[in-house]
Amino acid sequence: MIRSRIIGTGRAVPPKVLTNDDLSRMVDTSDSWIVERTGIRERHILDPSQAASDLAAEAGRQACRKAGVDPSAVDCIIVGTVTGDCPFPATATFVQKKLGAPAGSCAFDLSAACAGFLYGVSIADAFIRVGQFKHVLVIGVEVLSRIVDWTDRSTCVLFGDAAGAVLMTAGDDQSAGRLLSTHLFADGSLAEILWQPVGGSREPATPEAVAGKRHFVQMNGREVYKHAVRNMAACARTALEANGYSADDVAWVIAHQANLRILEGVSDRVGIPMSRFFTNVDRYGNTSSASVPTALDEAIEQGKLKPGDLLVFAALGGGLAWASAAVRW
Ligand code: ACO
Repeated sequence: MIRSRIIGTGRAVPPKVLTNDDLSRMVDTSDSWIVERTGIRERHILDPSQAASDLAAEAGRQACRKAGVDPSAVDCIIVGTVTGDCPFPATATFVQKKLGAPAGSCAFDLSAACAGFLYGVSIADAFIRVGQFKHVLVIGVEVLSRIVDWTDRSTCVLFGDAAGAVLMTAGDDQSAGRLLSTHLFADGSLAEILWQPVGGSREPATPEAVAGKRHFVQMNGREVYKHAVRNMAACARTALEANGYSADDVAWVIAHQANLRILEGVSDRVGIPMSRFFTNVDRYGNTSSASVPTALDEAIEQGKLKPGDLLVFAALGGGLAWASAAVRW
């Protein structure tokens, strides 16, 4: 049986750090409020001279290098992002050029907010299993610092910039890093609890719209919190049930790093202790589609994952869109 497998991971995090104390000099907040509600201590901010494709290409380059695959052999690039270089063309096309992947290969973006990376992994899995592409690079990248209102304390403390990537190829039932399943979900009736209303065909970025600050992230935090805990736990359970496993079988949960309190809620509901949740939200904040691949890459680097470990991935974001995956490491 053909299985797709992860053969390399990478991440790119901008060097500039913005701490909670820095933020408390910009808006009426404090380190203790942010840490208590979110577990976030600092986040990274991309230099204005760079764009999403710069971070994405760096993460992709690392994933290729660790896999021992030259970028010239990458025949498909999928970028999950809501903060691409520009509305069109796809950020993936800029990444293709910066990375040195061949002109004429496939490159496209997908929009599933914080679930964008796992949506991309699911599409890559299907492409690989039907034999359409051989080396698929899936990247989650966000430059959320460009779409948050730095005068709004209810949102600006949450987000950061980063990119993470995996290179996937075909394997079999015994291959390390093989994908066991993916599950994708969305509920459009909740689209407006977390969104960026201005900048598309519905409300173009006119001077009036921009003056109203509706080109920045708008969020109903309490509603997002409730749905994030409920749906990330439910889709993690779906991943286990689909493969005939229980919570005890899981070595690591690598979930979207939205907020430590959300991860604790998911841990309670799914019955997997926090000691088996990999977390790095304290150092990066919420990096949306970049958070799962960034966490995976760090978990590998820190030697946390052992061959044969069962990994469960889960993420939820604007849409609402959410997703899970199970991987045998
Ligand atoms: N510093 C200090 N006070 C603040 C801040 C801040 N940064 N932000 C809000 N407050 C104040 C509010 O003004 C309010 O004051 P009031 O009582 O005088 O009106 C008070 O704190 C409580 O505000 P709430 O919004 O009710 O605070 P809550 O306990 O819900 O926590 C939070 C807010 C942390 C945003 C929480 O709702 C949450 O985690 N939601 C999930 C949001 C999220 O993770 N979004 C990311 C994108 S979606 C995803 O990735 C899953």
